[in-house]
Amino acid sequence: MDKIEIFGGKPLVGTISISGAKNAALPIMAASLLTNNEIKLSNIPNLSDINSMLKLLKSLNSNICKKSEKVIIKSQKPKSNFASYELVRKMRASFLVLGPLLSRYGEAKVSLPGGCAIGARPIDIHLKGFEKMGVNFEIKDGYVIGKVKKNLKGAQISLPFKSVGATENLLMAATLAEGKTIIVNAAQEPEIIDLGRCLKLMGAKVSGLGTSKIIISGVKKLMGCNYKIMPDRIEAGTYLFAVLGCSGSVELVNLNNEVIQNLIDTFAQFKDLDLVKKNNTSIFVKSSKKIFESVNIKTLPFPGFPTDLQAQLSAVMTRAKGTSIIEESIFENRFMHVAELRRMGANILIKGSRVIIKGKKKIFGAQLMATDLRASSSLIIAGLMAEGKTTINRVYHLDRGYEKIEKKLSKCNANIKRIKG
Ligand code: UD1
Repeated sequence: MDKIEIFGGKPLVGTISISGAKNAALPIMAASLLTNNEIKLSNIPNLSDINSMLKLLKSLNSNICKKSEKVIIKSQKPKSNFASYELVRKMRASFLVLGPLLSRYGEAKVSLPGGCAIGARPIDIHLKGFEKMGVNFEIKDGYVIGKVKKNLKGAQISLPFKSVGATENLLMAATLAEGKTIIVNAAQEPEIIDLGRCLKLMGAKVSGLGTSKIIISGVKKLMGCNYKIMPDRIEAGTYLFAVLGCSGSVELVNLNNEVIQNLIDTFAQFKDLDLVKKNNTSIFVKSSKKIFESVNIKTLPFPGFPTDLQAQLSAVMTRAKGTSIIEESIFENRFMHVAELRRMGANILIKGSRVIIKGKKKIFGAQLMATDLRASSSLIIAGLMAEGKTTINRVYHLDRGYEKIEKKLSKCNANIKRIKG
């Protein structure tokens, strides 16, 4: 297994190109099952999660042609609408094939999902929504088996929680359902807007994207399209935290206006980080302070502070001036990075759904174990900030969601390399 080795303590200086958003690419790839015409996607990041989704689509009889950041997917009627445990367990987003399969073929058998070990992550909100649209479910031997009673029917579905995955699954299914679907208390993440835009190019009738009420009028058929995946705001946010933690000046390129605005809004509370929009696709970020202020932050659904940046924030705050309190309100077990940060000398402890961090002048390199995707990137940031050598084991978690992270950082002066296992 590969390892990452870091000698910390250097400011970051240079340019980083941001890849396409994994969390937009995955549902959009699943949406290819809604048509038998070609879906041509660009700005697809080169990640193991993307390969897992491509494998799953292949097993469902899709033709795939992938060349660097472009992929063409042409779905054909599967021999069976079956998504196996082997393919689904690696990644929770695989469960997003359920909606398209049910709406296109009226039945599906999909394994219960796996993914990062960051909480219970049930699928009840997805299933209750589909039941409202006329699906009968049975859960047997670790599989969800869904059958549509007659036709999939539009319905008013009120989500008990703004689940990103449930919003996406129901949105995709509703595009081909009979009549109108209204998703109330829908999640508002930019990646859902990206999915909705792609569906609209395919001929879907969708309004209210980005609001908490999405309205979909079902159509008989969807077509192919060309679509460029949005930039990854979580990858960009991770690098912004690296600059805050290490100081330096970095230009992030390959962004778009919406993501730039989102980063400016999300990072406005970090007064020691200067963010300047350079043009419509890049921002310049600078932090000259060796000592930066602590913060109190709670993760929330969009437009709140993203849970996917909570671990990275915790790593940075280990060296802040004063005490930070970070509350995790989305996942109940997303503190796997805390024990590892303690191994580096950080004064950080978990109290229920909060971490309390008393900033220190220094943290120190150590042997660490990556446990989930975002915990892994938080350990990279900690390694860059620490004095001495850090070795991070089990980096395959990192390869699920960060394209060439060690290369992007070493181009910015960081002393970081991958050791092949
Ligand atoms: C997506 C993102 C993930 C991000 C998360 C929250 C993708 C591929 N992944 O995950 O990176 O961290 O949104 O922003 O886009 N829940 C239920 N029942 C359900 C569904 C969800 O209880 O049926 C709970 C989950 O256990 C979790 C919370 O709701 O505690 C949020 O989950 P959800 O928004 O669905 O996240 P994902 O779509 O899995």
